[in-house]
Amino acid sequence: MSKQKVIICQNLNENLSEAIHSCPHDKVFILVDIHTQELCLPLLEGIKGLEESHIITIGAEDIHKNIETLAHVWKELGEHGATRHSLMINLGGGMVTDLGGFAASTFKRGIKYINIPTTLLAMVDASVGGKTGINFNGLKNEIGVFSPAEYVLIDTQFLKSLDSRNLLSGYAEMLKHGIISTTEHWAELLNFDMNHIDYKALQALVAQSVQIKENIVEEDPFEKGIRKALNVGHTAGHAFESLAMETGHHVLHGYAVAWGIVCELYFSHQKVGFPTDKLRQTIQFIKEHYGVLTFDCKQYDRLYEFMTHDKKNSAGIINFTLMGEIGDIRINQSATKEEIMEMLDFYRETMGC
Ligand code: GLY
Repeated sequence: MSKQKVIICQNLNENLSEAIHSCPHDKVFILVDIHTQELCLPLLEGIKGLEESHIITIGAEDIHKNIETLAHVWKELGEHGATRHSLMINLGGGMVTDLGGFAASTFKRGIKYINIPTTLLAMVDASVGGKTGINFNGLKNEIGVFSPAEYVLIDTQFLKSLDSRNLLSGYAEMLKHGIISTTEHWAELLNFDMNHIDYKALQALVAQSVQIKENIVEEDPFEKGIRKALNVGHTAGHAFESLAMETGHHVLHGYAVAWGIVCELYFSHQKVGFPTDKLRQTIQFIKEHYGVLTFDCKQYDRLYEFMTHDKKNSAGIINFTLMGEIGDIRINQSATKEEIMEMLDFYRETMGC
């Protein structure tokens, strides 16, 4: 997989103009959702190279990350003269960059694309690393391809207008990057004041976070090994997210990941000796900022079933990525159904639900 160029922007206009210029193209398409069309697209006005661009607008949020929206984007591309030499710019959160990246990577067997993430979640995770796709059959990111953007342009000015729930959602992925990197970075993240945000300090943390992800993706772009580190919290997290989706209580991805981290650090403690003090501190931070997803033991089987669909599984065994310590990554750790039930008990007792 080719390496994508990730740029922490000082001047979005200049950086985007240069990026467009360095990708030879016949026509530019900009994909936005109904929110980024209104709030973010005006910031691209007057940028060299976008004069004749065609805007494609889709519905916002995960509920629209589906085959119908994808078909709409392909149709728009086809009906407005896109060729294999066209360029797509995805301006939005993870839903836009995932779906837009997939649409671009499959249209006429693949056109080039640039991601401009506008949410914290998309900046530190979704838009970086070449994973693209849609939800299907009630399952998250079930259909997709690895296909990197030509450029990812990260401009933290977008964060100033982001609501606190979406900030926290992205911050959970940063916390995950802290857990898989160094004690210093993990502690820095736990001590950051999310109630009174210092945006300059946040920008520095974002740059560090993106670097952690980039290093891992560079080593293992197709998730054969170490990239599974990026799934800490996600086996349980995706199950929580799917359960919430099924029961009509939509939760933001990062919240589900934060609750998944509670479960998987418990497993890490039980199975590979993750230290008690760091388990407690991390859970405390999550309880304080993310609240709790409530469910009862009648839903354990359904959660287990969702976990059996996780992409890390092989030969029917549910695989987790666990941590022996901060930065000590243990991939391919299996768990029995009984252990998973105990993990869910721990979650409910600890989180008070
Ligand atoms: N979101 C995890 C990854 O990109 O691998």
